[in-house]
Amino acid sequence: MKVVVTRKIPGPAVDLLQQQGYEVVAFPENRVQTTEELKKFVVGADAILSLLTDKIDGPVMDAAGKQLKIIANYAVGFDNIDLEAAKKRNLMVTNTPGVLTETVAEHTFSLMLSIAHRISEADRFSRAGSYHAWGPELLLGTDVSGKTLGVVGLGRIGSLVAHHAARGFGMKILYTDPKPNPEFEKEYGAVFVEKLDDMLPQCDFVSIHVPLLDSTRHLINETRLNLMKKTAYLINTSRGPIVDEKALASALAENRIGGAALDVYEFEPEITPELKKLDNVILTPHIASATRETRDKMAEMAAQNIIDALEGKTPPNLVK
Ligand code: DGY
Repeated sequence: MKVVVTRKIPGPAVDLLQQQGYEVVAFPENRVQTTEELKKFVVGADAILSLLTDKIDGPVMDAAGKQLKIIANYAVGFDNIDLEAAKKRNLMVTNTPGVLTETVAEHTFSLMLSIAHRISEADRFSRAGSYHAWGPELLLGTDVSGKTLGVVGLGRIGSLVAHHAARGFGMKILYTDPKPNPEFEKEYGAVFVEKLDDMLPQCDFVSIHVPLLDSTRHLINETRLNLMKKTAYLINTSRGPIVDEKALASALAENRIGGAALDVYEFEPEITPELKKLDNVILTPHIASATRETRDKMAEMAAQNIIDALEGKTPPNLVK
């Protein structure tokens, strides 16, 4: 059996796969392969261990050959894989849910605290040598404690962010989701709001935790940004195209909302240039799950999905 790993990844995946006796071909470089490179790289593979930066579509699947059985994504998101094309070819697709929940929730909270307390701006200010004297109005931020958080998507990560917010910071939780979760509401005093448009005007912070689907692309657009409080902050650690980045840049430049903290971008790795000029936005480079522990666990999980699939079992993290 041949397994190809599309990029250099940390963790035990390659060892685990080799221990099974598979031929493992790992791309030796830490960069995204071009589509043409990828098509050549996957030839003859029984399994592809892919990254969210690889566009795995029908032509790439066909380039691998008829023996291909599984595409194991090294990410919880799988919008880089054409699921319809995989289904047509009877291929399994897996992801890495659960193991990165804590880490992404931590990063989300770091972004929330940082934008509210103007941490990046203050750091730039200090480094620039601008700190000459303590001042009662120097870099005034805003409290997070006791404020209202709107969670868009109450899945694993959204729920944990809400838990931290409610338990750690006494925040009031509002949420939107395809369906209400009465148990969660009982536990955290959270309130389900059926329509996003009704939730946005009530929130001091809005955190996005939905997958990228046709229905969630530009979910946060100009109209919805205009529904937010002038003081509210938008946090996005899910997928970039869920936010209309141009509309967001204008809203921030015109102070129509208080600020934003983003880990993901509409045209990743490009970042809308206007955003980079603004102080009321924090920009991190898609690192919400980037801790050593979590990246190791993601690697192990992706490898286990492949091992199960190649042994004829149903892998634990099959994407439906
Ligand atoms: C994911 O897993 O989908 C994150 O975006 C990267 O870890």
